[in-house]
Amino acid sequence: MIKVMFVCLGNICRSPMAEFVLKDLVRKEHLSDEFYICSSATSNEEIGNGVHFGTIRKLSQMNVPVENRVAVKLKKEDYEKYDYIIGMEDYNVKNIIRIIGNDVDNKVYKLLDFSDNPRDIADPWYTGNFDKTYEDILEGCKCFLKKYCKSEI
Ligand code: 4NP
Repeated sequence: MIKVMFVCLGNICRSPMAEFVLKDLVRKEHLSDEFYICSSATSNEEIGNGVHFGTIRKLSQMNVPVENRVAVKLKKEDYEKYDYIIGMEDYNVKNIIRIIGNDVDNKVYKLLDFSDNPRDIADPWYTGNFDKTYEDILEGCKCFLKKYCKSEI
């Protein structure tokens, strides 16, 4: 079982989108039994709040199932529980390290580190552009899964 924790600032826009997109991809590859996937926040801002409407609307358009969930915060103990802790941008990674301490087992990544074009995931919080965020997240999740299937990660 490979355990993946996606992380963003609020856990209402980007990291739940990544959680649901990767769950959908592994389901389509009949790999669901091999994965445990969830997501969390580095900040307290949105704890207890539901998934952002922009994420729900975009995933619904793309026929990606959305679960009913509320935002939770990343905990120090999560470092032991997960194999991959995947942030959206450099600022997330800094905040992840602040919560978990040093990444001694090299578990912390940015999602698009798995792509041939590493960069930050587009943040929809200020732009409202969930289309671009979805494209970036789909690219990152596909590349992550491809590397996993080739046993390169
Ligand atoms: P997310 O989006 O980190 O992708 O869930 C945001 C959610 C809340 C805030 C910023 C980004 N905020 O400033 O409260």
